[in-house]
Amino acid sequence: MAITDFDRYPLTFGPSPVHPLPRLSDHLGGARIWAKREDCNSGLAFGGNKTRKLEYIVPDVLAQGADTLVSIGGYQSNHTRQVAAVAAKLGLKARLVQENWVDWPDALNDRVGNIMLSRIMGADVRLDDAGFDIGIRSSWEQAIADVEASGGKPYPIPAGASEHPLGGLGFANWAYEVAAQERELGVFFDTIVVCTVTGSTHAGMIAGFAGQDRPRRVIGIDASATIEKTRTQVARIARHTAELIGLGRELRDDEITVLEGWAGDLYGIPAQSTLDAIRLTGSLEGMIVDPVYEGKSMAGLIDLVTTGDIPASSNVLYAHLGGQPALNAYSALFRQ
Ligand SMILES: Cc1ncc(COP(=O)(O)O)c(C=O)c1O
Repeated sequence: MAITDFDRYPLTFGPSPVHPLPRLSDHLGGARIWAKREDCNSGLAFGGNKTRKLEYIVPDVLAQGADTLVSIGGYQSNHTRQVAAVAAKLGLKARLVQENWVDWPDALNDRVGNIMLSRIMGADVRLDDAGFDIGIRSSWEQAIADVEASGGKPYPIPAGASEHPLGGLGFANWAYEVAAQERELGVFFDTIVVCTVTGSTHAGMIAGFAGQDRPRRVIGIDASATIEKTRTQVARIARHTAELIGLGRELRDDEITVLEGWAGDLYGIPAQSTLDAIRLTGSLEGMIVDPVYEGKSMAGLIDLVTTGDIPASSNVLYAHLGGQPALNAYSALFRQ
Protein backbone atom coordinates (compact mmCIF):
# COMPACT_ATOMS: atom_id res chain seq x y z
CA MET A 1 0.00 0.00 0.00
CA ALA A 2 1.08 3.58 -0.62
CA ILE A 3 -0.33 6.71 1.01
CA THR A 4 -2.42 7.36 -2.10
CA ASP A 5 -4.24 4.04 -1.59
CA PHE A 6 -5.92 5.23 1.61
CA ASP A 7 -9.33 6.94 1.51
CA ARG A 8 -9.27 10.59 2.51
CA TYR A 9 -12.44 12.46 3.46
CA PRO A 10 -11.94 16.16 2.67
CA LEU A 11 -12.08 18.37 5.76
CA THR A 12 -9.34 20.86 4.81
CA PHE A 13 -9.24 23.55 2.15
CA GLY A 14 -6.55 21.60 0.26
CA PRO A 15 -2.79 22.03 0.64
CA SER A 16 -2.07 24.35 3.57
CA PRO A 17 -0.27 27.61 2.77
CA VAL A 18 3.54 27.86 2.88
CA HIS A 19 5.16 31.28 3.21
CA PRO A 20 8.45 32.84 4.32
CA LEU A 21 8.98 34.59 7.67
CA PRO A 22 11.52 37.19 6.51
CA ARG A 23 11.49 39.53 9.50
CA LEU A 24 11.91 36.68 11.97
CA SER A 25 14.71 35.21 9.81
CA ASP A 26 16.52 38.58 9.61
CA HIS A 27 16.12 39.15 13.33
CA LEU A 28 17.68 35.79 14.20
CA GLY A 29 20.43 36.30 11.63
CA GLY A 30 20.78 32.68 10.53
CA ALA A 31 18.78 30.18 8.50
CA ARG A 32 15.83 31.28 6.36
CA ILE A 33 12.58 30.35 8.10
CA TRP A 34 9.28 29.50 6.45
CA ALA A 35 5.96 28.36 7.91
CA LYS A 36 3.39 25.85 6.72
CA ARG A 37 0.08 26.82 8.23
CA GLU A 38 -2.13 24.07 9.65
CA ASP A 39 -3.67 26.78 11.82
CA CYS A 40 -5.58 27.96 8.76
CA ASN A 41 -6.02 24.66 6.93
CA SER A 42 -9.80 24.36 7.27
CA GLY A 43 -13.07 26.19 7.76
CA LEU A 44 -14.02 23.77 10.55
CA ALA A 45 -13.68 25.64 13.86
CA PHE A 46 -10.21 27.06 13.04
CA GLY A 47 -8.77 23.72 11.88
CA GLY A 48 -5.36 22.49 13.00
CA ASN A 49 -3.30 19.32 12.86
CA LYS A 50 -6.10 17.03 14.09
CA THR A 51 -8.37 18.05 11.22
CA ARG A 52 -5.74 16.71 8.85
CA LYS A 53 -5.38 13.45 10.80
CA LEU A 54 -9.15 13.02 10.89
CA GLU A 55 -9.35 13.12 7.09
CA TYR A 56 -7.91 9.60 7.10
CA ILE A 57 -10.04 8.38 10.02
CA VAL A 58 -13.48 9.59 8.88
CA PRO A 59 -13.79 6.99 6.08
CA ASP A 60 -13.52 4.29 8.77
CA VAL A 61 -16.08 6.11 10.97
CA LEU A 62 -18.53 6.13 8.06
CA ALA A 63 -17.78 2.52 7.09
CA GLN A 64 -18.55 1.38 10.64
CA GLY A 65 -21.84 3.30 10.76
CA ALA A 66 -20.94 4.98 14.06
CA ASP A 67 -23.18 7.75 15.40
CA THR A 68 -21.00 9.20 18.20
CA LEU A 69 -17.33 10.20 18.15
CA VAL A 70 -15.83 9.62 21.61
CA SER A 71 -12.59 11.38 22.41
CA ILE A 72 -10.46 12.82 25.18
CA GLY A 73 -8.09 15.69 25.96
CA GLY A 74 -7.44 18.47 28.43
CA TYR A 75 -9.96 21.25 29.16
CA GLN A 76 -8.27 23.36 26.49
CA SER A 77 -7.74 20.48 24.06
CA ASN A 78 -7.49 21.55 20.42
CA HIS A 79 -8.01 17.93 19.44
CA THR A 80 -11.43 17.54 21.08
CA ARG A 81 -12.52 20.88 19.55
CA GLN A 82 -11.64 19.54 16.10
CA VAL A 83 -13.42 16.25 16.82
CA ALA A 84 -16.53 18.27 17.81
CA ALA A 85 -16.32 20.22 14.54
CA VAL A 86 -15.98 17.08 12.45
CA ALA A 87 -18.92 15.46 14.26
CA ALA A 88 -21.03 18.54 13.54
CA LYS A 89 -19.98 18.51 9.91
CA LEU A 90 -20.88 14.82 9.51
CA GLY A 91 -24.14 15.06 11.46
CA LEU A 92 -22.80 12.82 14.26
CA LYS A 93 -22.69 13.31 18.03
CA ALA A 94 -19.50 14.00 19.98
CA ARG A 95 -18.89 12.79 23.52
CA LEU A 96 -15.77 14.45 24.94
CA VAL A 97 -13.89 13.67 28.15
CA GLN A 98 -12.04 16.84 29.17
CA GLU A 99 -9.44 16.09 31.84
CA ASN A 100 -7.75 18.55 34.13
CA TRP A 101 -4.40 18.24 32.30
CA VAL A 102 -3.08 21.62 33.33
CA ASP A 103 -3.10 23.08 36.81
CA TRP A 104 -3.58 26.58 35.50
CA PRO A 105 -5.15 29.20 37.77
CA ASP A 106 -7.31 30.92 35.18
CA ALA A 107 -10.91 31.05 36.36
CA LEU A 108 -12.09 30.74 32.76
CA ASN A 109 -9.90 27.75 31.85
CA ASP A 110 -12.88 25.41 31.56
CA ARG A 111 -15.11 27.97 29.87
CA VAL A 112 -13.36 29.93 27.11
CA GLY A 113 -11.38 29.03 24.01
CA ASN A 114 -11.49 25.42 22.84
CA ILE A 115 -13.98 24.08 25.35
CA MET A 116 -16.41 26.90 24.59
CA LEU A 117 -16.15 26.16 20.87
CA SER A 118 -16.89 22.46 21.47
CA ARG A 119 -19.96 23.37 23.50
CA ILE A 120 -21.13 25.79 20.78
CA MET A 121 -20.86 22.96 18.25
CA GLY A 122 -23.16 20.79 20.35
CA ALA A 123 -20.66 18.32 21.81
CA ASP A 124 -21.48 16.52 25.05
CA VAL A 125 -18.60 17.88 27.13
CA ARG A 126 -17.81 16.14 30.45
CA LEU A 127 -15.15 17.42 32.82
CA ASP A 128 -12.90 14.91 34.61
CA ASP A 129 -10.37 15.59 37.39
CA ALA A 130 -7.56 13.37 36.05
CA GLY A 131 -4.19 14.96 35.24
CA PHE A 132 -2.02 14.88 32.09
CA ASP A 133 -1.16 11.58 30.42
CA ILE A 134 -0.84 10.77 26.72
CA GLY A 135 -1.77 7.10 27.25
CA ILE A 136 -5.14 5.35 27.08
CA ARG A 137 -7.40 6.43 29.97
CA SER A 138 -10.14 4.57 31.84
CA SER A 139 -12.42 7.65 31.68
CA TRP A 140 -12.36 7.42 27.89
CA GLU A 141 -13.09 3.70 27.96
CA GLN A 142 -15.96 4.43 30.36
CA ALA A 143 -17.35 7.09 27.98
CA ILE A 144 -17.30 4.53 25.14
CA ALA A 145 -19.15 2.03 27.34
CA ASP A 146 -21.70 4.70 28.36
CA VAL A 147 -22.52 5.51 24.74
CA GLU A 148 -22.99 1.81 24.02
CA ALA A 149 -25.15 1.32 27.11
CA SER A 150 -27.45 4.10 25.98
CA GLY A 151 -27.95 2.45 22.59
CA GLY A 152 -25.46 4.54 20.60
CA LYS A 153 -22.71 3.35 18.26
CA PRO A 154 -19.48 4.92 19.50
CA TYR A 155 -16.36 5.51 17.44
CA PRO A 156 -13.35 5.83 19.77
CA ILE A 157 -10.70 8.41 18.90
CA PRO A 158 -7.79 8.43 21.39
CA ALA A 159 -6.01 11.57 22.61
CA GLY A 160 -4.61 13.48 19.66
CA ALA A 161 -5.84 10.64 17.39
CA SER A 162 -2.32 9.31 17.90
CA GLU A 163 -2.87 5.74 19.09
CA HIS A 164 -5.44 5.23 16.31
CA PRO A 165 -3.98 2.81 13.72
CA LEU A 166 -4.52 5.40 10.95
CA GLY A 167 -3.42 8.40 13.08
CA GLY A 168 -0.08 8.89 11.34
CA LEU A 169 -1.41 9.00 7.76
CA GLY A 170 -2.47 12.66 7.70
CA PHE A 171 1.07 13.86 8.27
CA ALA A 172 2.67 11.17 6.14
CA ASN A 173 0.68 12.78 3.34
CA TRP A 174 1.81 16.23 4.57
CA ALA A 175 5.35 15.20 3.68
CA TYR A 176 4.32 14.56 0.08
CA GLU A 177 2.41 17.83 0.03
CA VAL A 178 5.58 19.64 1.13
CA ALA A 179 7.57 18.01 -1.68
CA ALA A 180 5.00 19.21 -4.24
CA GLN A 181 5.03 22.74 -2.81
CA GLU A 182 8.84 22.77 -2.91
CA ARG A 183 8.72 22.01 -6.62
CA GLU A 184 6.29 24.91 -7.16
CA LEU A 185 8.29 27.33 -5.01
CA GLY A 186 11.74 26.25 -6.15
CA VAL A 187 12.99 25.80 -2.59
CA PHE A 188 14.14 22.76 -0.56
CA PHE A 189 13.48 22.60 3.17
CA ASP A 190 16.39 20.63 4.61
CA THR A 191 15.03 21.01 8.14
CA ILE A 192 11.47 20.65 9.46
CA VAL A 193 10.62 21.80 12.99
CA VAL A 194 7.44 20.46 14.59
CA CYS A 195 5.89 20.38 18.04
CA THR A 196 5.31 16.89 19.43
CA VAL A 197 3.18 15.62 22.35
CA THR A 198 0.96 12.63 21.56
CA GLY A 199 3.27 11.91 18.65
CA SER A 200 1.41 11.08 15.44
CA THR A 201 2.00 14.45 13.75
CA HIS A 202 5.77 14.15 14.00
CA ALA A 203 5.67 10.38 13.45
CA GLY A 204 3.62 10.71 10.27
CA MET A 205 6.07 13.27 8.90
CA ILE A 206 9.04 11.00 9.62
CA ALA A 207 7.38 8.11 7.76
CA GLY A 208 6.37 10.32 4.83
CA PHE A 209 9.75 11.97 4.37
CA ALA A 210 11.61 8.66 4.78
CA GLY A 211 10.17 7.50 1.47
CA GLN A 212 11.57 10.49 -0.41
CA ASP A 213 14.98 10.64 -2.04
CA ARG A 214 16.37 13.85 -0.49
CA PRO A 215 17.48 13.54 3.14
CA ARG A 216 16.31 16.11 5.66
CA ARG A 217 16.10 16.57 9.41
CA VAL A 218 12.62 16.31 10.90
CA ILE A 219 13.11 17.79 14.36
CA GLY A 220 10.37 17.21 16.92
CA ILE A 221 10.32 19.65 19.82
CA ASP A 222 8.81 18.06 22.90
CA ALA A 223 6.02 20.01 24.61
CA SER A 224 4.83 17.16 26.84
CA ALA A 225 7.55 17.43 29.49
CA THR A 226 7.26 13.62 29.68
CA ILE A 227 10.00 13.15 27.12
CA GLU A 228 10.53 9.38 27.34
CA LYS A 229 6.83 8.62 26.82
CA THR A 230 6.69 10.96 23.84
CA ARG A 231 9.91 9.57 22.30
CA THR A 232 8.61 6.00 22.63
CA GLN A 233 5.24 6.93 21.20
CA VAL A 234 6.73 8.84 18.23
CA ALA A 235 9.05 5.93 17.39
CA ARG A 236 6.27 3.35 17.61
CA ILE A 237 3.81 5.36 15.49
CA ALA A 238 6.48 6.32 12.94
CA ARG A 239 7.43 2.65 12.43
CA HIS A 240 3.80 1.56 12.23
CA THR A 241 2.94 4.32 9.73
CA ALA A 242 6.04 3.58 7.63
CA GLU A 243 4.88 -0.01 7.36
CA LEU A 244 1.31 1.04 6.49
CA ILE A 245 2.46 3.22 3.60
CA GLY A 246 4.85 0.56 2.30
CA LEU A 247 8.19 2.21 3.06
CA GLY A 248 9.82 -1.17 2.50
CA ARG A 249 12.53 -0.79 5.13
CA GLU A 250 12.88 -0.25 8.88
CA LEU A 251 13.22 3.34 10.05
CA ARG A 252 16.63 3.99 11.57
CA ASP A 253 16.89 5.41 15.10
CA ASP A 254 18.67 8.50 13.76
CA GLU A 255 15.57 9.36 11.70
CA ILE A 256 13.58 9.81 14.92
CA THR A 257 14.65 12.95 16.76
CA VAL A 258 12.64 14.41 19.63
CA LEU A 259 14.51 17.23 21.36
CA GLU A 260 13.85 18.33 24.93
CA GLY A 261 14.62 21.66 26.54
CA TRP A 262 11.67 23.91 25.68
CA ALA A 263 8.70 22.21 27.36
CA GLY A 264 9.34 23.88 30.70
CA ASP A 265 8.53 21.87 33.81
CA LEU A 266 5.02 20.81 32.89
CA TYR A 267 2.71 20.28 29.94
CA GLY A 268 0.52 23.33 29.42
CA ILE A 269 2.57 25.72 31.53
CA PRO A 270 4.57 28.19 29.45
CA ALA A 271 8.27 28.73 30.24
CA GLN A 272 9.89 32.16 29.88
CA SER A 273 11.21 31.04 26.48
CA THR A 274 7.64 30.19 25.41
CA LEU A 275 6.40 33.68 26.25
CA ASP A 276 9.39 35.32 24.54
CA ALA A 277 8.72 33.24 21.41
CA ILE A 278 5.02 34.18 21.41
CA ARG A 279 5.79 37.89 21.62
CA LEU A 280 8.64 37.76 19.10
CA THR A 281 6.67 35.87 16.45
CA GLY A 282 3.61 38.04 17.00
CA SER A 283 5.47 41.35 16.89
CA LEU A 284 7.74 40.54 13.93
CA GLU A 285 5.40 38.53 11.72
CA GLY A 286 1.84 38.93 13.01
CA MET A 287 1.83 35.15 13.40
CA ILE A 288 0.20 33.93 16.59
CA VAL A 289 1.49 30.88 18.48
CA ASP A 290 0.04 29.46 21.70
CA PRO A 291 1.54 28.84 25.16
CA VAL A 292 0.92 25.06 25.22
CA TYR A 293 2.37 23.81 21.93
CA GLU A 294 3.51 26.12 19.20
CA GLY A 295 5.13 28.70 21.49
CA LYS A 296 7.34 25.88 22.77
CA SER A 297 8.31 24.57 19.33
CA MET A 298 8.94 28.14 18.17
CA ALA A 299 11.21 28.69 21.18
CA GLY A 300 13.12 25.56 20.12
CA LEU A 301 13.43 26.80 16.55
CA ILE A 302 14.66 30.21 17.72
CA ASP A 303 17.41 28.62 19.82
CA LEU A 304 18.46 26.11 17.16
CA VAL A 305 18.76 28.86 14.56
CA THR A 306 20.47 31.33 16.90
CA THR A 307 23.08 28.83 18.08
CA GLY A 308 23.81 27.64 14.53
CA ASP A 309 22.69 24.07 15.31
CA ILE A 310 20.52 24.67 12.25
CA PRO A 311 23.15 26.21 9.93
CA ALA A 312 22.71 29.62 8.30
CA SER A 313 22.65 27.96 4.88
CA SER A 314 19.43 26.06 5.79
CA ASN A 315 15.88 26.60 4.71
CA VAL A 316 13.73 25.65 7.70
CA LEU A 317 10.05 24.82 7.53
CA TYR A 318 8.19 25.48 10.77
CA ALA A 319 5.02 23.37 10.95
CA HIS A 320 2.42 25.63 12.56
CA LEU A 321 -0.09 23.11 13.91
CA GLY A 322 -2.77 25.52 15.21
CA GLY A 323 -3.82 25.90 18.83
CA GLN A 324 -4.55 29.62 19.14
CA PRO A 325 -8.00 29.28 20.82
CA ALA A 326 -6.27 28.19 24.08
CA LEU A 327 -4.67 31.64 24.35
CA ASN A 328 -7.97 32.87 25.80
CA ALA A 329 -7.30 30.89 28.98
CA TYR A 330 -3.87 32.55 29.39
CA SER A 331 -4.91 36.21 29.22
CA ALA A 332 -3.27 37.10 32.54
CA LEU A 333 0.16 36.53 30.97
CA PHE A 334 -0.32 39.31 28.45
CA ARG A 335 -1.82 42.14 30.47
CA GLN A 336 1.29 44.22 30.06
C1 LIG B 1 -1.61 23.13 18.36
C2 LIG B 1 -0.98 21.80 18.57
N1 LIG B 1 0.33 21.66 18.30
C3 LIG B 1 0.95 20.47 18.48
C4 LIG B 1 0.29 19.36 18.95
C5 LIG B 1 1.06 18.09 19.11
O1 LIG B 1 0.68 17.15 18.13
P1 LIG B 1 0.72 15.60 18.47
O2 LIG B 1 -0.19 15.40 19.63
O3 LIG B 1 0.29 14.91 17.23
O4 LIG B 1 2.12 15.27 18.86
C6 LIG B 1 -1.08 19.46 19.25
C7 LIG B 1 -1.85 18.34 19.84
O5 LIG B 1 -1.47 17.62 20.73
C8 LIG B 1 -1.73 20.71 19.05
O6 LIG B 1 -3.04 20.86 19.31
